[in-house]
Formats: sequence, C-alpha cells, structure tokens
Amino acid sequence: MEAINGEERDMERRLSKLLEESVVSKPESGEINSSCCGGKGKSKGQGQPEQGTGEVDIVKTKASCCSGPKGATNGRKSAESAGENISSCGGGKGKSQAQGQSEQGTGEVDIVKTKASCCGGSKGATNGRKSADEVREDVKEYYGRIIQTKEDLQTSACCTEEKFPSYVKPLAGMVADEVASKFFGCDFCVPNVLENTSVLDLGSGSGFDCFIISQLVGETGRVVGVDMTDSQVELANKYTQWHADRFGFEKSNVTFHKGYIEKLDELGLDDASFDVVVSNCVLNLSPDKEAVLTEAYRVLRTGGEMYFSDVYALRRVPDNLKDDPVLRGECISGALYWNDFITLARKVGFTDPRVVQSEPYFVDDSLMDKLDGTEFVSTTFRLFKVSNLEATIEDYGQAVKYKGSIFSAPAQLVFDRDNIFEAGAVVPVSRNTFRMLRASRFRSHFDFYGCCSKKHFGPFPRSQPITI
Ligand SMILES: C[S@@+](CC[C@H](N)C(=O)[O-])C[C@H]1O[C@@H](n2cnc3c(N)ncnc32)[C@H](O)[C@@H]1O
Repeated sequence: MEAINGEERDMERRLSKLLEESVVSKPESGEINSSCCGGKGKSKGQGQPEQGTGEVDIVKTKASCCSGPKGATNGRKSAESAGENISSCGGGKGKSQAQGQSEQGTGEVDIVKTKASCCGGSKGATNGRKSADEVREDVKEYYGRIIQTKEDLQTSACCTEEKFPSYVKPLAGMVADEVASKFFGCDFCVPNVLENTSVLDLGSGSGFDCFIISQLVGETGRVVGVDMTDSQVELANKYTQWHADRFGFEKSNVTFHKGYIEKLDELGLDDASFDVVVSNCVLNLSPDKEAVLTEAYRVLRTGGEMYFSDVYALRRVPDNLKDDPVLRGECISGALYWNDFITLARKVGFTDPRVVQSEPYFVDDSLMDKLDGTEFVSTTFRLFKVSNLEATIEDYGQAVKYKGSIFSAPAQLVFDRDNIFEAGAVVPVSRNTFRMLRASRFRSHFDFYGCCSKKHFGPFPRSQPITI
C-alpha cells in the first residue's frame, strides 16, 4: 500500500482551485498587456469582451526590457511620451560574482548576490543578477519618477474603485483626488472588522488604502504606512492632517514612515504591535520576500493576520527576467510562483495560508513570448498568526455560527474561498478554521460548538475521498 503524504494531498486539493479558477484567458487581440482587475472588461478599441460584461478598460501598451515600450495606445502615455527612457536597463554596475541563478522553491527565489544588467549593457557584467539594493533602486525610480499617475502604467496592474464593496465606496470618495490618482494597488485588500484595531500597510504608496482604513479603525484605532519611495511618502504625509480634518478626527490616526518593508525593525516597529498587516501589490517588488514575511509575522499580535493582495506566477519566472526594471515595476517578473509563496509563508510561521479570492492577471501575447509561457494571477491571501494551527486541514467535529454582527457583512461573511458563512447558519469547520476564528478579532461575531472536541474524524471536509 502506497503511503500518501496527507499534507501534500490536502494542499493539492485546496490549491488546485486556485489553478483551475485562474487559468488565464489570453486576449485574442494581442493588445492587452496585463490586468488583474480587467478580467471583466473589454479590450478597448477591439470591443471584444474577455470575460463577463464589465466596463473595466484594459491598457494596450507594451513594455520590453531592452527595447523599451513601443508606445501606448488607448489614450495612455508611453514612458517615452512622458519624457522618460524606461527601457534603460541601468543598475548593473558591478562584476559578476557567479552565474546569478537564484535558488528556487526555498523562499530565496529572488535573492541574488551578483550584479549585471538585463541586457548585458553594464560594465563588467557577465551573466549575473542585480543586487537587492539595485532592484529596490529600480523600483523606487519606477514609482518615484516614471509613474506619476495610474495612466502612466505600462500595464493596467491597477485596481479600479468600481471593484470596491459598496460600504467602501463612500470611504474611498473621502480620499483626496491627488492621493487617489496614485493608487497603484492590484486589488481591494481591506478586511472586515477593523474597528479600533492597529493596522500596518506595507508599501503604502500615496496612502490611499491607509486613508480608507483610517476611517474603518476610527479615531481610537491606528494606521501605519511604510514605503521606501520619497515622493510617495511625501504625498501621503502632505495629506495626513487634511484627511483627519475631513474625517472629523481631533488628531490623525495615520502615520507614514519612509523605509524598507524588509527592515521594519529599523523603523522602531515593535514585536506584536499590530492586529492586521495589509499590503497591496508590493511583495512581488521586493528582492527579499522572506524578510518581508518574517517581519510581518514579527509585528503581528497573536491572533492577528496579514491580509494582502499581490500578483503570483503559475510557474517560476525565469531568472533572466527578474531584473528587467519595467517587467518588475509592472509587478510581473518579481512575482512568486504561488506554490513557492505557500512554502515561504509556512516557513516563517503562517502555517495555513488561505486564499480569499483569485483571478487571472492578463499579460499581452508579446510579453507572454518573453515570459516563456508564464501566466499570472492576482490573489488575496489571509495569513493568521495563530500558534496551534496544523499544516493539514483536519476534522474534529467542530462547528460555528456567524451572528451576522459585522456591519460590512450582515448577510454573509467571506472568510476565505472555502468558508463563506451565512448569518445564522451552523456550519462544520476544520479545527484550523475554528482556531483562527476563535483566536482572532472575529471571535465575538461567532458562536462556537465543540470547543473541547478531541475526537479526530479524519481530513476536513469528511467527504474527501481516501486515496490510499
Ligand atoms: C504598486 S505600488 C502600490 C502602492 C500602494 N500599496 C497602492 O496600493 O497604491 C508599490 C509600492 O511599494 C513600494 N515598495 C516596493 N518595494 C518596497 C520595499 N522593499 N520597501 C518599501 N516600499 C516598497 C513602492 O515604493 C511603491 O510605492
């Protein structure tokens, strides 16, 4: 009898959905570069709906490592028309110390010790990779100088406000236009139940999400944004008191720090000092993703969660594309292969990553050639810091009832893609889900059944076929 690894089987079952539901439909027109939110939209100009019937426009511009953008259509500026030469590879100044192959599948996917340019133009470089500092400088340049508004993006990586839940739309409407024009997130990543909590936003940009969350946590809550790009932090700071006045707060509950999300300790952010960490389209840009997740875990209180949206690849992105400043800046080539992300999240202590939602992230055919067939998804994960979670999903005969008491989710609460709780219904849950709900800020919104249950009924859900 062949022994089956229960953990692998379980992860395979839960995450196969991500793959199945995220198969990227390639645009026939070949004009769509990238769009996580565009899954419902039309390719403007061609007028062919890609999926569904929504009205989200999809950018049709193109980007390239060494040849640069070929010019924008669809009314959007190319980087050249904005007076920038974004096709410059730049950055590679040093000697190659090795071949620059990153270690894959271990969480070290993006960290390299070598230096070189993506197109071989840098002095002395052979086949190496940029250093972490050089990658960060490219990203700063991209978000500090090249991209001034959403319209300057070479892809439509950005999420539109149409996608926000109805309770958030009026809150988003309170945010200053200048801040909103520099919202570059790839999804909506604001969780429920934020009243009176402390929230940290990694890569807060112009502060758009922070100023929405500021209203949700209320005057007694706290929001901290961290970003490394001067102009973004300056803009966010410029509007901090303006928003406090607008919200009728005596004192602002938002603070912005200039710094690196890999080094939160340098900003004096203490262990266990936040209830929630959010982040919107940023992890993919970091050259040291393990450090970011480790720091997020450190600053979270027990029972807290990291709730964030980002771009993931459906296979590992070839190393030679990772240093392309445009592909990275547009949130494509720095994206982790989703299975490597799961491994990494578990490694730092987030034992049971949950997918809240996932959708295709469209990439233009011309880029697809360059990407060697790699496809992408935009996914929101929630990662709880709860110490007694198991790596597998197990059934201990437990159940919960959602009280319907969360103002933003009166009828049903989407906890994750597999756990959607209707108000008033008693539903069986795995021990991990039971523990996440009970250890977190969701606790008072649920009734719990079988708290002391010690009897194990096998994998959750019970209908799962046994394949030994
Ligand atoms: C795609 S933008 C998203 C900004 C913001 N979250 C939003 O939704 O508008 C990425 C932001 O992350 C910041 N960023 C990228 N890597 C970073 C790092 N390692 N440390 C700090 N900030 C970083 C950039 O400066 C930029 O403002």
